[in-house]
Parts: sequence; C-alpha cells; structure tokens
Amino acid sequence: MKLNSLLSILADQEVHSGESLARELGVSRTAIWKQVRKAMSEGYAIETIRGQGYRLSGRVDLLDRQVILRQLEDNLASQIDLEILGETDSTNAEVARRLARGQSRIPVILADCQTAGRGRRGRNWSSPKGQNLYLSLGLPIKGDFTSLDGLSLVLGVAAAEALESIGKASIKLKWPNDLFAEGRKCSGILVEIQGELQQGYVQVIAGIGINVHMQQADEVDQPWTSLDLAWPGITWIRNSLAAAIIEAILKAVSTFEEEGFEPFRELWQARDLFRGKTVAAREGQLKGVGAGVDSQGNYLLEVDGSQVAVRAGDISLRVKP
Ligand code: BTN
Repeated sequence: MKLNSLLSILADQEVHSGESLARELGVSRTAIWKQVRKAMSEGYAIETIRGQGYRLSGRVDLLDRQVILRQLEDNLASQIDLEILGETDSTNAEVARRLARGQSRIPVILADCQTAGRGRRGRNWSSPKGQNLYLSLGLPIKGDFTSLDGLSLVLGVAAAEALESIGKASIKLKWPNDLFAEGRKCSGILVEIQGELQQGYVQVIAGIGINVHMQQADEVDQPWTSLDLAWPGITWIRNSLAAAIIEAILKAVSTFEEEGFEPFRELWQARDLFRGKTVAAREGQLKGVGAGVDSQGNYLLEVDGSQVAVRAGDISLRVKP
C-alpha cells in the first residue's frame, strides 16, 4: 500500500475507521496504523479519534492512480493506460511520446506539475506543483480529418458536465472550449493532432488544464480563477476531478464518433458565454452579437441581420469594451 492511497482517502477530512480503511485498501488494520504513523512522521496532521478512527486535519490533495481507477467504470478503466508523473514538460508532449512508441490502450497522463505547459495559440499554461490538474489523453478518433468538426467543443461540454456533476457548479463555455467559472477562465483545452491518418483513425491528443486550488499566478495575462476561488464552499479533490473528466471525455468521444457534433450542440449553446452579447472577432475586424454555434461547431455572429460563421483557429472572441 502506498502512503498516497491512504492520504487520498483521508483527504476528505472525514473520520475513517481503521477497519474501513483496511477493507478499502486491502490490507490489515496494523498496516493502516503503520502508514498513519509514517504519514505523521512526514508532517501530515492525522488525529486518532478513540473508538472511531482517523481524521486528517488540514488540506492535502494528492494524485493517486489507484484512487482514480477505482472511480472509473470497469469498461473505461480497462481501455486506458493511466500514469501519474511528478513532473513533466507537458502532458500533451508526454502522450505524443507514448503514441510514437506505439501502445494498444489509450494513454492518459496526469502530472503534478509541468515545466513547459502549453496553451492554445502558442501561449504558456501556468502549471505550478500540486495545485491544479494537468491531464492529457491520446484519443484515436474514427474517420478522417473532416470527422473532427466540433470535437474540440465536445471536449469542452464533457469537461463542463464533469465539473458540474461533482461540484453542483455552473460552468460557461467561451468558444471554442474555454471553461469559465463565475465570469473568469478556470480551465482550457488544447487539442493537437499527431501524425498522418492511419487505418481510418485520426490520432488526437486532448490536453486539459484546470485551475483547482491555485490562489496566485502573476504570470497569467488574462482574467483567471480557480475552482477553489470561484466556489470556496465546495471541496475540490483532484482525483475525483480527474476520474470525472476522463469518464466524461471517453463517453463523449464515443457518442461523437457515432453521431457527430449534433447531440452536443444544444449542450454547448446552453453554456455559451457570449450568447446575446456584442462581441468582436477576427482581430476586431468583425463585430456582431453572439448567436451560438452551427452544425460544424463554428461560432455564429449576428451581423446586420444575417449570421456569419467564425471558423476555428482564426479568431479570438472578446467582449467589446
Ligand atoms: C488554453 O490555452 O486554454 C489551453 C490550455 C491547455 C493546458 C493543458 S494542461 C495539460 C495539457 N498539457 C499541456 O501542455 N497543455 C494542456
């Protein structure tokens, strides 16, 4: 039993009996007691409550592979090859390296921190240690490059639904797939394509960064928030977030492969940050009122009574000052 497995269970700061911990982790109560002592010697504040069990006082939020796998449905857990790294340059880059080596299951990489986290449009993604979620999946998508229309929006819907299912929070989406909490960006998704078309599949790398506990980030040049800052009343646990996101993405991708973007269109539009607002696109050249997305996932602007589609990659929507 790894110390992190025990700490991950105690992270909810509830009282857990030695018996229930032993059962959950498949070890003896003595082994639990030894691990509790080890944790205390490493500085974790664990109270022993007579006749009841153990409680961790103070916040700890460790990533743990087994805890995440246990929260996934069996048929999904068996599809993925999940690995947690203490540090990497970028989880997207790490997935790309795994794919280049060739592997049969879907590589899923989580890191406690990234030294070269990348965002969309060549930006950096702030990735301090232990605070946020940095997660990438190597997804083989059936079809050719044209089958990818709308995929990046689908991933945004999946991530929003996952967060909402855990926290009863309400997430907005800024086209194409930035997640907003209480009016500020809390998460971004980077979709990259690896290599050429292979045997009817496009190899997509989907990387999601979620600001979970972050309280300060001087280097971020746009208004941002974290889940803790936006909703302090909710206990956000990175393992639960990771499991919910992995599950939501795998299920959404499977629906997307069968049915395309259409089943997700309304789900996306219901969270549209810009709906009905005056916005500018194409470096300010085009101004209009946000009107949702079309069947390919392009953003629609109402301009002088007609709708103009704004395509992926060439615009940045901004609320007009
Ligand atoms: C954005 O610019 O909004 C997209 C940010 C994507 C960040 C994530 S963190 C995990 C994965 N690894 C990276 O290097 N980037 C993505």
